[in-house]
Amino acid sequence: MSSVPAKISAATVRADFNDPIAVVHYARAAHFLGLWESERILIERFFPDKSAPLLEAGCGAGRVTLGLWHLGYRNLTAFDFAEELLDQARQLATDQGVTAIRFLHADATNLAENCHVIRDNASSTRSSEPPQAEDPRSNDCHVLRDNRTSPTGSDFAGALFLFNGLMQIPGRENRRAALRELHAVCRPGAPLLFTTHDRDVSPTERALWRLEKLRWENGTHDSRLIDFGDRYFEDETGRTFMHLPDRAEILDDLASTGWIHTFDSLRRDIAKESRAVRDFSDECRFWSATRA
Ligand SMILES: C[S@@+](CC[C@H](N)C(=O)[O-])C[C@H]1O[C@@H](n2cnc3c(N)ncnc32)[C@H](O)[C@@H]1O
Repeated sequence: MSSVPAKISAATVRADFNDPIAVVHYARAAHFLGLWESERILIERFFPDKSAPLLEAGCGAGRVTLGLWHLGYRNLTAFDFAEELLDQARQLATDQGVTAIRFLHADATNLAENCHVIRDNASSTRSSEPPQAEDPRSNDCHVLRDNRTSPTGSDFAGALFLFNGLMQIPGRENRRAALRELHAVCRPGAPLLFTTHDRDVSPTERALWRLEKLRWENGTHDSRLIDFGDRYFEDETGRTFMHLPDRAEILDDLASTGWIHTFDSLRRDIAKESRAVRDFSDECRFWSATRA
């Protein structure tokens, strides 16, 4: 009897990012690639104050975080839910003599309670216990929690979710939850910078997505997917879940989560990237929004 394959979940994505193949891929990029030229240009445009507290979501092995540090940003908090990547980021920072970046283990869709959720996954026998004092992650949890419950209700002067991390959250409601969580920990006026792929980027893409639409209408699409626009594939860098939105969807999600859209542009219109960057990453769309 054939069983119905399970839907892609956060646990699937987290396991895929913790897989050694993915860890090597992202660690290599953090060591040898650094910031893309387009990222550098937009970071310096939208985050002009290098002493302001910034939050980087989905920091992975630290490619962007360390890039920010080397650009002169000095008040950085970075988090990821894949602990193997986070270990790489911490190690790289240590190797480079950078001790002032706060690296946290957290899930973008639930910044208030994620420490318990993540600990549940990591250790089923201690699922209901609060974090222990000797557990280095216990401090991690409180930093983001404090930002939500501080007298002002918010602390960060800006947030980044680069290289499509937001689109690697399965389920539109979960992506909106992440946008809401970032909204909750940022102060009014704070900019958010993130990237997505773009379903409408070329005539070929549009034709391929028209075919995929027919599969969804016929019920012959990959049943592990959740939303139209999702892809789940495997290549030499490991298994990847990615949601490809269209422009209207992102505008709608920003508006419904308290973010005011200020900018979007394809990467190729911002900078000509090196061959190494183009080999590492496909064309994408940069987005910026301001916290209402
Ligand atoms: C494409 S990688 C980018 C990593 C790094 N920012 C870079 O540019 O090299 C996306 C990252 O988002 C993280 N991520 C995805 N969903 C997340 C979630 N719900 N909470 C925290 N991190 C998440 C993944 O673990 C992964 O490290």
